[in-house]
Parts: sequence; structure tokens; C-alpha cells
Amino acid sequence: MFARIAGVGSYLPGPPLSNDDLKQRGVETNDEWIVSRTGIKSRHLADANCTSSDLALEASRKALVAAGIDASTLDLIIVATSTPDFIFPSTACLLQAKLGNHSAMAFDVQAVCSGFVYAMNIAEKFIRFGSHKKVLVVGAEVFSRILDWDDRSTCVLFGDGAGAVILEASENPGILASAAHADGAYHGILSVPGNVCGGKVIGDPFLRMDGQAVFKFAVRVLADVAQECCALAGILPTGIDWLIPHQANIRIIESTAKRVGIDMNKVIVTVDRHGNTSAASIPLALDAAVRDGRVQRGHKVLLEGVGGGFTWGAVLLEF
Ligand code: ACO
Repeated sequence: MFARIAGVGSYLPGPPLSNDDLKQRGVETNDEWIVSRTGIKSRHLADANCTSSDLALEASRKALVAAGIDASTLDLIIVATSTPDFIFPSTACLLQAKLGNHSAMAFDVQAVCSGFVYAMNIAEKFIRFGSHKKVLVVGAEVFSRILDWDDRSTCVLFGDGAGAVILEASENPGILASAAHADGAYHGILSVPGNVCGGKVIGDPFLRMDGQAVFKFAVRVLADVAQECCALAGILPTGIDWLIPHQANIRIIESTAKRVGIDMNKVIVTVDRHGNTSAASIPLALDAAVRDGRVQRGHKVLLEGVGGGFTWGAVLLEF
């Protein structure tokens, strides 16, 4: 029994905001700096009253339509997010209520930018075990909420959005191999080192990052896990039709593709127009490539992510 993608959907809030728009809003930056170091030209930012579950709902509705199923038939809902609506209940439960499903198991996965591949990895185990048959896997983020808009070295990098897939039990090939890892020793190079205690914010509630350390770590583990996943499936990286890496930075994506030996014309890139949407970035890119006709049924697609923790992982599937 395989876990097969039956439908994909995504949602981006509001109009795109260009690098010049950020400058107009008071960020001391310029288009040339951002584009040359990251490849980012624009991103979408959610309004103050829009939550991760709101974005997840829109993406999920599109994925359900694409799969041709009703939300009431889902038996598992997993939301990958680092920007949940509340401390609890989980964003998955809030999404479930909005979808009108009253019985599925529902929980969040917190693995930052690797969250979506972690969630796919988990969902596949439930399907292969035979206990669940229709699973909604979502990556949804309002990262703009945890950005320090006075820190130009981080605030220009991120955006908001959501992507969703429906995974179904199928005798036809779907997920062929998956791998996921973490090394908490690297927790300090990317974190939001704050919490709520006694009704007050303790520590620092904004995203902090050692950009160069993250860059080096990301390229190394993304290349390693791509090769690991291909080896598990018994195929060479050159046999992949599409690589869909986490969309953090075009230079990380290019360096990874080079190390793995995958040509850039087989790599889906959306970082230029979405920025880094953390757990949402991979399903957003997948949906874009499915809807524009690049990713087609039967294609071998490698999804891979890396994020705070540090966490990293990959999923190789036949679409
Ligand atoms: N606009 C203009 N100038 C800026 C900006 C900005 N937005 N941000 C920083 N600068 C300036 C700095 O102040 C510094 O100026 P100075 O030399 O006068 O002090 C100069 O640019 C160089 O700054 P560096 O930090 O050394 O620039 P670097 O070349 O390392 O690039 C970057 C920074 C883009 C963050 C890079 O380290 C990177 O891409 N790292 C990867 C991080 C990443 O993608 N993280 C995403 C989250 S993690 C994940 O998703 C896995």
C-alpha cells in the first residue's frame, strides 16, 4: 500500500510586496542587496487578523477540490507550522473545525522549515500501517508575526502562505522513500528564543539567525539527505524528474543542486516570488509546479527541507 498524492492546493495572502515596497515601509534595504544574496524579489504578508489556520483553510479547500473528496472523509489532519494560531489548541484542530470535520485525528508538527517533509513522513507511516486512508497534510505560516522589522538581515527573507496535499492509501505508487533527521546541538543558529510565562513574554520573541552558519549547514544536509533518499528508493539523483527544495535562498538551492548533481532546469524555484515561507514553502512550490503543468502524473519528485532545530528531511515520491 502506497501513500499517494490525490490533490494539491495552496494559498498566498494579499498582493505581492516587492523589495522596494519594503524599503517604502521603512526597512533600510535595497533590491540589489536582497536579490543578489537571496534571489528574493517579492513575498506575501498576511493582515494582522489572518492566522495560519485561515491560510491553511484556503489551501486545504483547493487540495480537497483537486482530490475530489469531501473534508468529512479525512481521517487524519497534520499541520506543520511554527506560527500556530494559539499555544493550544493545535492549528490542526482549528483547521479541522473550519473544514467541518468532526472525527479525524488532528495534530501539529513543529519542525520549522522541515515541518512539511516531517509531516509527509509521518502521514506515510499511518497510511502504510493501514490505520488511516485519507490524510490532509498542510504547511501554513504567518512568519511575518515573528520577524523583527528593525532587523534588516532577517525581515527581508520571509513571507506568509500555506500549501496542502491530500495523501490517500493507494495500490499505485506514491511515496517511494523518506528520511528525516535532527541535531539539536545546532538549536542556537536559528531560533525564536522567547516564551510566555505568567502572562508576560520572557526572552526574545523574534526570529534570530546566524545567516552564514545556517547557509553552510543547509547546503550540507540538503545534499546528504537527497542522496540518502534516492539510495533508499534505489534510484540515482539523475533519475529524478523534479527537485523541490525548501525555498529559503536561491544560492542554497543552486549549491544543493550542484552537489547532488541535479540540473537547475529540473529544480522548482518559487523563492523569488514567495520568499521563505518556512513549512509552507515546499507545498507552495509543489502546487505551483502541478498547476503550471511541469509536475505530471508518473514523475519522480524529490521534496526536501531544512530548518530550525536543526531539522532536515526528504520525501521521494512518484506523483
Ligand atoms: N539590506 C541591505 N544591507 C543589508 C541587509 C539588507 N536587508 N541585511 C544585512 N545587510 C548588510 C549588513 O549590515 C552587512 O553590512 P556591513 O558589512 O556594512 O556590516 C552586509 O550587508 C553583509 O551582511 P552579511 O550578514 O555578512 O551578509 P551575507 O553575505 O552573510 O548574507 C544572508 C546574509 C543573505 C542572510 C546569508 O547569510 C544567507 O543567505 N544565509 C542563509 C540564511 C537563510 O536563508 N535563512 C533562512 C532561514 S533558515 C532556513 O530556512 C533553513
